[in-house]
Amino acid sequence: MAKPLLAGNWKMHGTATSAAKLASQLADYTGEKPEIMVFPSFVSIPAVVAALSEHSEIAIGAQNISHHTEGAYTGEVSGQMLAGTGCSHVLVGHSERRTYNAENNELVAEKFAAAQASGLTPILCIGETLQQRQDRLQLQVIKAQIAAVIEKVGLQNVCNAIIAYEPVWAVGTGETATPEQAQQVHSFIRAELGEQGEDTQLLYGGSINADNAAALFAQPDIDGGLVGGASLEAEHFMNIAQQLIERK
Ligand code: 13P
Repeated sequence: MAKPLLAGNWKMHGTATSAAKLASQLADYTGEKPEIMVFPSFVSIPAVVAALSEHSEIAIGAQNISHHTEGAYTGEVSGQMLAGTGCSHVLVGHSERRTYNAENNELVAEKFAAAQASGLTPILCIGETLQQRQDRLQLQVIKAQIAAVIEKVGLQNVCNAIIAYEPVWAVGTGETATPEQAQQVHSFIRAELGEQGEDTQLLYGGSINADNAAALFAQPDIDGGLVGGASLEAEHFMNIAQQLIERK
């Protein structure tokens, strides 16, 4: 059984100062928590690392990574740089990067490999677009997104990572997958991973909030969430974390 995990993707919001403040507010919550992870922008990572220096129970990750190890790649950030800054995790293949930066399955697989080669744990983000769902292609799309990474790094390395199912039509739209829709895809992902994936953490993402979290977390193959908008306010995010701990 995979451990409960709640991750906050802060996307391109705020500043290093506001990110450090948000991190400190999360650290102030005592009591039982699920595993918590935050994903600030690159430039806010050092401030968040400093703010959480006495709170190693909150992990810090980046939102993107270069597939190159090093070299003349202006504007890129390597896995070694991220690890050296205090990151333990990194998102790869987020739908916003697939959409706005033309990241395809092969590039995402390379980024996944680069992350693991640097000692970072990737969170592989996958999900179908609205058109693909309307065409009932969601499971085929998910299968291809996972297969590209398995082909690159092997099944065991994929099982050692974290997978986030984020239907593109639910990201930032206020429209959440129903618990049944999410569970259907999560159980499909679990089956794709086979026995080796029994403990792999599978997160749902896409307009999670305090009102819909409990029903999603009650699903047997949903181990937690990757939260965008609702992660920008400590109280809201920790309310969702509490619902994950208390899930039925
Ligand atoms: P929202 O929770 O804002 O829909 O964002 C989800 C997401 O993209 C997390 O990575």
